Amino acid sequence: MNPVPKGLLPKVTIPSFVERASQGEKLVCLTAYDYTMARLVDEAGADLILVGDSLAAIVQGYGTTLPVTMDEMVYHCRCVTRGAPRALVVGDLPFMSYQVSREDALRNSGRLVKEGGVAAVKLEGGTSVADTIQAIVRAEIPVVGHVGLTPQAFHRMGGHKVQGKCKKGAGSRNQVIEDALAVEEAGAFAVVLEGLPAELAAEISEKLSIPTIGIGAGASCNAQILVTHDLLGFSGIQPPRFVKQYASLHEIITEAIRSYSSEVKEGTFPTTKHAYGAN
Ligand code: KIV
Repeated sequence: MNPVPKGLLPKVTIPSFVERASQGEKLVCLTAYDYTMARLVDEAGADLILVGDSLAAIVQGYGTTLPVTMDEMVYHCRCVTRGAPRALVVGDLPFMSYQVSREDALRNSGRLVKEGGVAAVKLEGGTSVADTIQAIVRAEIPVVGHVGLTPQAFHRMGGHKVQGKCKKGAGSRNQVIEDALAVEEAGAFAVVLEGLPAELAAEISEKLSIPTIGIGAGASCNAQILVTHDLLGFSGIQPPRFVKQYASLHEIITEAIRSYSSEVKEGTFPTTKHAYGAN
């Protein structure tokens, strides 16, 4: 683990994350997939950085999170942990890396920690993965749960759809509550609540003693997370309703590239200032 540079806030650990949330502090979580973004997010003071499998969409250009592989997740975790000396870094277990067997779940969680350098892993699901969470926690690998809109269940949900609105069955209000309780009971130290009506997320946050990390789940969660590329306006595409865009980097970047392009074509770049002399 890289030392925290002087002048930065203290390193965020799992106990300090949980303790600060229990004191009522709102915690800040963001995604990163590479060293440069991890440095920016860490320096700006995020408490937790998630190397999310959302990188399948943002970095790899897929329509869902399903294709990203274990080797790719390990690679991106390694890039991020090198750039994040302060924040708590959590790595996502990709689709089918923990569903087939407990052995797979343990081996793959271990890879994210040993090879990727993360402090904890995240996996999706509730009652159906409670045993898996318990086994990973018993191997001394801390776990973040993820319930509600779980993108790896894209096909079951029929898309990225808000959950917890119906009364019965998978994705129902009661099922989401049961899932969150099962994740806590299994030993997860925090849980992501994604794509839920705000009042349901508030009720779950009230029921649980572990911190809830909301995304599209209203203001009552202990922490908030967004995909960093969405809040920075990287894609130039209208983000989902729950995202607030704090910058329009797409315009800034395309404008800068157009300026470079015009100057190359006109011959005004490079000037002597950007060239080496013989001496
Ligand atoms: O993959 C991801 O980035 C996530 C968060 C958005 C919660 O799971």
